[in-house]
Amino acid sequence: MQAILLVGGFGTRLRPLTLTTPKQMLPVLHRPMLEHAVSGLARHGVDRVVLALGYQDDAFRAAYPDGRCAGVELCCVVEPEPLDTAGAIRFAFGASGMDASGGTFLVANGDVITDLDTDEMLRVHRSAGAEATIHLIEVEDPSRYGVVVTDPDGRVSAFLEKPQPPAPSNWINAGTYLMEPSVIDRIGPGRRVSVEREVFPAMVTDGALWALRRNTYWVDAGTPQTYLRVQLDLLDGRRGPAVAGVSADASVDPEAVIERSVVMAGAVVGAGSVVRGSAVHSGAVIEAGATVLDSVVGSGATVGRGARVTDGTLVGERFEVAPGSALSGARVPQGV
Ligand code: GTP
Repeated sequence: MQAILLVGGFGTRLRPLTLTTPKQMLPVLHRPMLEHAVSGLARHGVDRVVLALGYQDDAFRAAYPDGRCAGVELCCVVEPEPLDTAGAIRFAFGASGMDASGGTFLVANGDVITDLDTDEMLRVHRSAGAEATIHLIEVEDPSRYGVVVTDPDGRVSAFLEKPQPPAPSNWINAGTYLMEPSVIDRIGPGRRVSVEREVFPAMVTDGALWALRRNTYWVDAGTPQTYLRVQLDLLDGRRGPAVAGVSADASVDPEAVIERSVVMAGAVVGAGSVVRGSAVHSGAVIEAGATVLDSVVGSGATVGRGARVTDGTLVGERFEVAPGSALSGARVPQGV
């Protein structure tokens, strides 16, 4: 099975972290987000992943110079300009040499971390005779997602991107799709096309779109809160045995307190500092007496002596938070 992974977006919601590193190359625990997504696909028989690249494509090539990631062959294609989700699928399909003879293929948003069983999804897709099948997940507040209504047999009867409340269902598009090659012919060439706003609604009209409802582990790691959550879930053992958050190559003072946090290789945490519910990226320095709560400190950044960084603050790569200062829910440098 081949998969197209959409990884070309600007990742604006994670700025300033994504100004220097594309979203899927940001670390989740101790390896890039991309590797978590690719390993998940590999567990279900995907042996070739086409990376649909755009923004900062060089970072991906530099990280995988031999064209392999998590045991899977990578094929990198770069759009000449951002073509949006469906435009990117069409471009990646053609530019990577995929064709109709390859049969069903998988598509996933590169920031979705899930334990979805795509083998089961394929069985459902085949027995329904679907042209495309999408994974649905149930959420409390569906207003910022693509909301999907299905018939009892699983055929999609409505697909509404970010509808006004009240939403007709709490089941949302979870960003993993199985597609037949004929879907490519539905996407106009050489222009921006959204799979969520154009292609899926048109397929609903034709009765060609099906869905699999599965409340498996699923996080769309594209916001500061969810980017942190996907890491804390691994620490908490919500996806298997709990894993260690503090890298053996980090330097942590015995007088520092670190709770439910990721501290990456080369990071330094000074005496009397507190790091809780946070991610401290490689080479970052938390000086003595500083506090970091529910926040992300980018690689090579410094949180000065006695400073407080709290409440979902994102500190950009190599930024220096002044000693004694306080940042709450901030993004620094500002104005990004
Ligand atoms: P935000 O700017 O924070 O919304 O993030 P984003 O740019 O990643 O957008 P979003 O999370 O909505 O995109 C969903 C997935 O599609 C992500 O994995 C993106 O990398 C990817 N994506 C979005 N637009 C494009 C595009 O034009 N080309 C390609 N190749 N991928 C895209």
